[in-house]
Amino acid sequence: ELKDNTIIIVFGASGDLAKKKTLPALFGLFRQGFLPRDVKIVGYARTKMDKVEFDKRATSYIKTPEGDSEFAGQVESFKNILTYVSGAYDDGAAFDNLNRHLEEIESKYQSKECNRLFYLALPPSVFIDVARNIKEHCYVTKGGVNRIIIEKPFGKDLESARELLSSVKQYWSEDETFRIDHYLGKEMVKNLLVLRFANVAMGAAWDKNSISNVQITFKEPFGTEGRGGYFDEFGMIRDVLQNHLLQVLSILTMERPVSFSAEDIRDEKVKVLRSIPPIERSDTLLGQYVSANGKPGYLDDETVPPNSVCPTFAATTLWIHNPRWEGVPFILKAGKALNEAKVEVRIQFKDVTQGIFKDISRNELVIRIQPSEAVYLKLNAKTPGLYTRAIPTEMDLTYKRRFTDAKIPEAYEALILDALRGDHSNFVRHDELDVAWKIFTPILHWIDGKNGSPPRPVPYPYGSRGPKELDTFIQKYGYKRSVEA
Ligand code: BG6
Repeated sequence: ELKDNTIIIVFGASGDLAKKKTLPALFGLFRQGFLPRDVKIVGYARTKMDKVEFDKRATSYIKTPEGDSEFAGQVESFKNILTYVSGAYDDGAAFDNLNRHLEEIESKYQSKECNRLFYLALPPSVFIDVARNIKEHCYVTKGGVNRIIIEKPFGKDLESARELLSSVKQYWSEDETFRIDHYLGKEMVKNLLVLRFANVAMGAAWDKNSISNVQITFKEPFGTEGRGGYFDEFGMIRDVLQNHLLQVLSILTMERPVSFSAEDIRDEKVKVLRSIPPIERSDTLLGQYVSANGKPGYLDDETVPPNSVCPTFAATTLWIHNPRWEGVPFILKAGKALNEAKVEVRIQFKDVTQGIFKDISRNELVIRIQPSEAVYLKLNAKTPGLYTRAIPTEMDLTYKRRFTDAKIPEAYEALILDALRGDHSNFVRHDELDVAWKIFTPILHWIDGKNGSPPRPVPYPYGSRGPKELDTFIQKYGYKRSVEA
């Protein structure tokens, strides 16, 4: 279903997101033969530079494996499909100029039906200007398809998100709009649907009768490192919980969609999210990292305002009021500057009733999203030998070992390909976003100090597991450590 005559236009082409994610993902698709045959990629940004300079920047994050001349050759061919146009974001004439450039490329295509995919790798301040200017100056009307990809932050709370959504909607229909949450492009997040709905064994235990508590955890081993200006305005909840972790939660807990279609899936996600009331302050733990082991604290980052109380760690517990999940705590937790890099879902099952075995651990199903993708089930088994004792062990599906030759796609590769194909399944629908903000807005306003003085995050050392209060926090929701073997 890929159209051959397609131009991908990357706005913010000289920025960080484009350099680190968008352009390398486009290269990945190009290299694997997934881009439309005669595709061209046009970079657009304010910075004036020539093609040579743009090519250099566009490929600066692509790592050619040592001595791989084929790969190096592909990088050179990739440069052949790149062009660059500079211009302001609020200047209609500059967009006319861009449009002339696009028409010139299209005049060489055989078919007159040309498609344009606009990728906005831009800060929110110029978002609306660009969405409008593209529509007014660069929108193809001769039978081709126009699509626009946008990236978070989609507002800062319910009200600002609604404003943003409706401004973009004036120019772009829902069908043409692809809102990225790159977690939806991750292999193990996509795997959740299959694990849940292609296995009777999983489905049978997937409710409050079997499950005690669920944790969805995001850990990063580095701090803001110069990105503090952006981060401080948003904080850990807006950066990761309200989008990435909530998306994981909704797929994990939704009812079975009527079909695998984008709208059926998203209908179910919205439905489960609507069963979640706004988060309570008492269900929240906030932290901020401080200097330790020679590493700087959050407030030592020069781009962070002095005395900022912005949380760099947040744990919050969500409750789903429906028959399947009533009473099961869902703990979302995320932090920067922690002891390791890890994103995982940990489903802890209830105790065995009236156990005939003593001191046994609870079952846990762990879905490790990254690094080293894996699904493993912690269960109890008999120790081999001439006596019977239950010991905790694991059924382990580690992807690297099980699928030895498989290449796990980059999230951005998967998502750009979906957008080219017009598949919305892994993009955020407007009502999903609305309900996500409803859950988080009250707590965010409290943290922002909108209703009085803001809460003080508890300090935790750079490189630690997080605030020391965390263990008590998760135990409060019924999490039990496993018994040591
Ligand atoms: C982004 C956040 O959305 O996700 C970053 O803004 C965070 O702060 C990143 O580092 C994490 O993405 P990934 O794919 O590295 O887990």
